[in-house]
Amino acid sequence: MLSKKSKTSKPVEIYQGTIKSFFKEFKNILKEKKIYLIVDENTIEHINYLEENFLVTSTHLKLESGEKNKTFNSVLKIWDFLNRNNIKSSDLLFILGGGMLTDLAGFAASTYKRGIEFIYLPTTLLAMADASIGGKTGFNFQFLKNNIGTFRLPKAVFLDTTFLKTLSKKEIDSGIAEVYKHSIIGDINLWNYLKENTKELDFEYIIKSSKNLKLEIVNQDPYEKNIRKKLNFGHTVGHAIESYLLDTNSPALHGFAIAKGMIIESFIAKKENLLGENYFTEIKTILSNKFKSYLNFQIDPIAIIKLMQSDKKNTKSTINFSLPTKIGEVTINHEIESKKVKSYLLEFFQND
Ligand SMILES: NC(=O)c1ccc[n+]([C@@H]2O[C@H](COP(=O)([O-])OP(=O)(O)OC[C@H]3O[C@@H](n4cnc5c(N)ncnc54)[C@H](O)[C@@H]3O)[C@@H](O)[C@H]2O)c1
Repeated sequence: MLSKKSKTSKPVEIYQGTIKSFFKEFKNILKEKKIYLIVDENTIEHINYLEENFLVTSTHLKLESGEKNKTFNSVLKIWDFLNRNNIKSSDLLFILGGGMLTDLAGFAASTYKRGIEFIYLPTTLLAMADASIGGKTGFNFQFLKNNIGTFRLPKAVFLDTTFLKTLSKKEIDSGIAEVYKHSIIGDINLWNYLKENTKELDFEYIIKSSKNLKLEIVNQDPYEKNIRKKLNFGHTVGHAIESYLLDTNSPALHGFAIAKGMIIESFIAKKENLLGENYFTEIKTILSNKFKSYLNFQIDPIAIIKLMQSDKKNTKSTINFSLPTKIGEVTINHEIESKKVKSYLLEFFQND
């Protein structure tokens, strides 16, 4: 069954249900269109499910998965594929993959011939709960996460949890980290649900809650001038950790870098007298327990500071944070001098 469409999601349609149920809404559009598809070596196995339920045949391009392939070179491969197939504005590009692929191929589609229509079929929990919503596309450049990108909404997003059946537990857990983030920045009920249900989670519920929270924010501030910055909680430090580890033998999954980022930024919020000790302890305990086997990163705090300074949101002398003030609330544009951030990080890592 299709859940009802979000009224706030215009102009992008976000459907939650099964591919078969989306087909009913789309069959008239699909009849007239040629379908092109971007997949990776792990999502390619879902083409059959898609084609059978959508009654389409498609021409696909298979890219290599992994954050290290979220590069300009992969963008070139997509543009080349679109060119070789002479894709027209009347055609449709489906992107079947996790957040890496939706960001990357969303970027390629948003820039090819000044933008062609594309539909996201997110296949990871992280992409369903977060990355496919809100229109940010991009790729990594010179060791900086999402250094190049656009804001461009897909024509539609199809959230079908059937895809999650082939996803590893580790990747599911990485997605859950972003769900925790959404709960901390604005949904205390979701936080309590996650706290009480540590083993079995209702994916439909957590995806719906996450999606709704993100939509509510991005619809008010699509270009991140103001409250969309709330979504950056955990990401100032988290992205720096992810960038730092990107080219090492043990890169961090996005969600785990963000989980560590949330713990460290909650510590910073406590040091800045924004967050009470009790809330900090609760956030740290819950996240450390949930993600304990994933957060033992070997990090050089000084390198992390440098990476944060190169982030587009920061300057050399100050770093801009979105910090929690309690569970369910976050404050934005909290600028802290780099020197101070450095001392907080050193203190955190000394006791970590
Ligand atoms: N645009 C945004 O607003 C936004 C928000 C959050 C994160 N992101 C981006 O999302 C990316 C992380 O996304 P992710 O966690 O989905 O990682 P991912 O896209 O790298 O996918 C993780 C792995 O799972 C595999 N996979 C995907 N679907 C599968 C399935 N159904 N079965 C089996 N294997 C499958 C992929 O091939 C890959 O190896 C990062 O690049 C991050 O920057 C973007």
